[in-house]
Amino acid sequence: MHRRQQFSVFDSHLDLAHQFWEKLLLPTDTAVDATCGNGHDTLELVKILSQGKVLSLDIQKEALEAAQMLLSAEEKERVLFYHQSHVEFPEENRVKLIIYNLGYLPGKNKSITTMTETTLLSVKKALALATGGVSITCYPGHPEGEKEEKALLSLCSTLDPKVFSASYTRWVNRETSPSLIFIQKHIK
Ligand SMILES: C[S@@+](CC[C@H](N)C(=O)[O-])C[C@H]1O[C@@H](n2cnc3c(N)ncnc32)[C@H](O)[C@@H]1O
Repeated sequence: MHRRQQFSVFDSHLDLAHQFWEKLLLPTDTAVDATCGNGHDTLELVKILSQGKVLSLDIQKEALEAAQMLLSAEEKERVLFYHQSHVEFPEENRVKLIIYNLGYLPGKNKSITTMTETTLLSVKKALALATGGVSITCYPGHPEGEKEEKALLSLCSTLDPKVFSASYTRWVNRETSPSLIFIQKHIK
């Protein structure tokens, strides 16, 4: 008897985000994780960047400590952690990709969350800084997340198509699902 085969190209928004990052990054590149949280995205980036580095930012010390616990000693050598808001990015020569996973730290204080005004400010800076693109996971299932997504989509719609290609993906048959915004930069 044949077992039923599964043919999912991707099962979660994370699978899709990882495919975008893998396609965009070379092993020696530098990327920024603008919302480090528990470090799962930083870990994924550091695996893709086997000879490169990750700059990882969060306003919560607790988050940065949790992220450090997730990484091996070798991986930690290639990650620089910054206890600061993403409204300012650390000085860095060439950043290929900047990623955001918006919202609050899962299981922790929900009031410490990304906010529309600062996110917009940061993404505008990221678009100028990143040579390859910006990846943003939004959570429109909660009110601030919905406001944030709306503002970001509005910003994306104003981007010059000669310089950027902005795309938006969301599951339409999964209630309160996250969404993804990918912005590729064609002119460095
Ligand atoms: C959804 S979590 C990120 C999940 C994380 N990327 C992971 O893989 O575990 C969002 C994080 O953004 C952080 N954050 C909120 N506002 C921020 C800001 N202005 N600058 C940097 N980080 C911020 C929160 O502290 C929280 O840890």
